[in-house]
Amino acid sequence: MKNVVELNHPLIEHKLAILRDKKTGTKEFRELIKEIGMFLCYEAMKDAKLEKATITTPLEKYKTGKLDEDKYAFIPILRAGMGMLDGVISVIPNAKIGHIGMYRDEKTFKPVNYFFKVPKGIENKEVILLDPMLATGGSANDAIELLKNKGVKKIKFLCIIAAPEGLDAVAKLNPDVTVYCAHIDDYLNENKYIVPGLGDAGDRIFGTK
Ligand code: PRP
Ligand code: URA
Repeated sequence: MKNVVELNHPLIEHKLAILRDKKTGTKEFRELIKEIGMFLCYEAMKDAKLEKATITTPLEKYKTGKLDEDKYAFIPILRAGMGMLDGVISVIPNAKIGHIGMYRDEKTFKPVNYFFKVPKGIENKEVILLDPMLATGGSANDAIELLKNKGVKKIKFLCIIAAPEGLDAVAKLNPDVTVYCAHIDDYLNENKYIVPGLGDAGDRIFGTK
């Protein structure tokens, strides 16, 4: 798929194996979501444009490049996206942060938006959306639409696990958005959970069940 980047790395597979395991507890689960989020952000920044800069090392003047961190905004989709925030913010510490609150209705599986707060001047920033799970793609597409309605032109979507159905849904409605994922799983079950997946990301991050 053109708009999808899957991290293909033995270290990621190793970390995912621990993350998926139902025996893994809240502390380790949270740490792994944060860490994989950091690796996803690193990959997603591969096309970053640097601004020309001249610095002076202890030895000489040196022409190099620097990132204008102000031009980036991380937006976690609540709740589970919050788990990835510490990891990505360690990569671009001066990026701005917004929040989009969404939950999936248990019967219809459609997302319900309950909160939207984004940094000032968001229309001129590159937005990096965070959510560990891309299942049907409903939450991702609705979040992207809310941002596009605010004038945002460049959006990337970072998730830990993506279902093929969710990737298709995003590619169909938002082909301009690249999805970065640690792994593309097999399918969605009758409750629209990703299989093999890792269960309910929000509940495992926050220990709510
Ligand atoms: C989960 C997940 C995504 C959404 C994915 O959130 O974190 O936001 O479901 O499903 P979709 O691709 O089918 O829309 P959930 O609704 O469980 O809320 P939570 O983060 O508060 O647990
Ligand atoms: N949300 C989750 O947390 N897990 C899934 O498998 C699907 C949606």
